[in-house]
Amino acid sequence: MTVLDQPAREAGQPTGPAGTTSWTAVCRLDDLAPERGVAALVAGEQVALFRLVDGTVLAVQQHDPFCDAYVLARGIVGSRLVDGAPVPTVASPMYKQVFDLRTGACLDLAGKAPARGMAPDLRTWHVRVTGGIVEIEVPSTDGAGGRTGERA
Ligand code: FES
Repeated sequence: MTVLDQPAREAGQPTGPAGTTSWTAVCRLDDLAPERGVAALVAGEQVALFRLVDGTVLAVQQHDPFCDAYVLARGIVGSRLVDGAPVPTVASPMYKQVFDLRTGACLDLAGKAPARGMAPDLRTWHVRVTGGIVEIEVPSTDGAGGRTGERA
């Protein structure tokens, strides 16, 4: 698994009212192989990025709430029918729970409950590709110029 760690570069303009979010460049689209996950550290959080065959890039948390480990970028990309329409999914490499890559919703608990009472659904991030660069929307830290979270 490749881990991309480029949290410092701010590529885009703030979006939303009063610059409440901004776009952080993560990697080049060409760095992502279709249907293979990559983990990135974005604003201090581990994000699992997936490029679909149509070029769409989706981002969910790298942390697997069922096995309590940072493994989802190693999951298996597939699709499931939700309300009669196919949606892109990732299956955990550990216990095979299936998550909707667009919403983070857990679609198949695979007979387990999340660890330590965590929510079964995944956090997601908005992703855009600008000039071949994959960018993720992150909350702006006031006046900090894209400073990333500190580790305790
Ligand atoms: S430890 Fe890597 S997938 Fe389980």
